[in-house]
Amino acid sequence: MKIALGSDHAGYELKQQIKKILDELKLDYKDFGTEDENSCDYSDYAINVSEAVGKKEYDRGILVCGTGIGMSIAANKVSGVRAALVENLYSAKMTREHNDSNVLCLGGRVIGPVIAEEIVKLWLGTDFIGGKHNRRIGKIMDYENLNR
Ligand code: RB5
Repeated sequence: MKIALGSDHAGYELKQQIKKILDELKLDYKDFGTEDENSCDYSDYAINVSEAVGKKEYDRGILVCGTGIGMSIAANKVSGVRAALVENLYSAKMTREHNDSNVLCLGGRVIGPVIAEEIVKLWLGTDFIGGKHNRRIGKIMDYENLNR
């Protein structure tokens, strides 16, 4: 599994922690920036990571900003992306099983490092269950394709 990672300044610290988790899991990833805690625009990183996932250059994306909200708004504008803002373990599991989310958005100023680690591991390790959820996602993707 290849993962595209990105953050703004407010998500930088948590992104660094996530890189350690991905190293431990021996997962392949690329950090699309930002490189430090200087103020920057989350939208730039959301779009770059999401484009890479939408074009299937990467299997999944993980985006971190202060709340995760700006990242999720921007990521969901990109074709082929189903981004989920997740703050708890139940949502981490459900958004993989039901939504087949391919981008995880986290709020570095909202959740602590321990819950973040558990969310990342659960989200990466949970499979889409398909069935009726294929139909539901299909309607979203059809709408997206019609309005491109
Ligand atoms: C940056 O101050 C903050 O607005 C950003 O990280 C994010 O929370 C936006 O949604």
